[in-house]
Amino acid sequence: MNKASLAAQFQKVFGRQPDIVTRAPGRIEFIGNHTDYNGGTVLGASIDRGVGVALARRTDGERNFHSSYTGKTVRLTAADAQVKQTGEASWTNYPLGVLAALPHFGLGVIEGFDYFADSDLPTGAGLSSSAAIELASALAFLGATGQTPDRETVVKVGKHAENHFVGVPCGILDQGVSGFGKAGHLVFIDCAGPRFATVPMPSGADFWIFNTHTKHALVDGLYAARHRECMAAAHTLGVKLLVEVSVDKLRAAESGVEATAFKRARHVVEEIARVDGTVQALRAGDIGKVGALLTASHRSSQHLFENSTPELDFLVDALVASAGVYGARLTGGGFGGAVMALAGAGFGAAQAEAVAAAYAARFGARPDILPMRTGDGAAVL
Ligand code: GLA
Repeated sequence: MNKASLAAQFQKVFGRQPDIVTRAPGRIEFIGNHTDYNGGTVLGASIDRGVGVALARRTDGERNFHSSYTGKTVRLTAADAQVKQTGEASWTNYPLGVLAALPHFGLGVIEGFDYFADSDLPTGAGLSSSAAIELASALAFLGATGQTPDRETVVKVGKHAENHFVGVPCGILDQGVSGFGKAGHLVFIDCAGPRFATVPMPSGADFWIFNTHTKHALVDGLYAARHRECMAAAHTLGVKLLVEVSVDKLRAAESGVEATAFKRARHVVEEIARVDGTVQALRAGDIGKVGALLTASHRSSQHLFENSTPELDFLVDALVASAGVYGARLTGGGFGGAVMALAGAGFGAAQAEAVAAAYAARFGARPDILPMRTGDGAAVL
């Protein structure tokens, strides 16, 4: 997916050349599970796959959205663009959410346009195609109207779209990593600021994604429920966000907190400490320590935050028992989706295949094996 291919596809659908072509990557959540909306820290990697958008202005106010995925064009006016779309048109809620977000940041909204989106992200693998389409759309709408806000604002526009139009109370991880990603690096986010930085990936370590294609029927509701549980636990502990509680302070407060709320809070507070430990281990070049922290993060999801599943646990167990794997964990919100492994040269296609075969023998379906490379963040092409 490059500028020429996106422009050619746009031409095929709309019979003219686009004014602007953009692209934004998907992301891997490296470590920092459900820490972002609790004001904590998180590490993610932008990958070399994502969503591309090509756009040209129209003078008649019509808004035409075409996706290569559905192969259909959704025709809207500025008036119906305020309304959340359903069914086959529901993918347009991402660009529509971006348009609705722009005025909240003092930015102008483009009136009419022809819009084309294409993706090379595997679907349902927890690689955040939603943040990718939000950021690619934001850069296209802004670029076509000659607006160039700073990168942090573009990221916040994407998050605003997700929180207020799409309706998911997510933190800034997905949009932040898609916006600030850099090939060969991890993105570190201190979500309280937010503050963004990059940390070089250790050499000799590769990402593998195992997509189970399983998804809990209530996944959105479960994510929102965990969000609520965290806010309630913070309230009980007398703070606004769980980031304000240290590991020691939390331990001391255990008797005054209901058991489930305590488990949720412990996951978040210790996970923030693991992110900080991971940054130190990366700086020290201690890849073994990094891997151990990744697996510890998964165990905490499994037992404390309870956002794992038997399928994800099985993959993590099989992966960490494989030669060459430094660590493995669920990546993203949880309740199904994918597992990420960080592995060295000793782990290759044959070993990945053995893990997939063991999973298939147990669950009757094969997971997808996706070796992943890092890639650059969102950009106008
Ligand atoms: C999803 C959300 C993120 C983050 C992760 C869990 O990917 O979109 O904001 O909360 O879950 O860490």
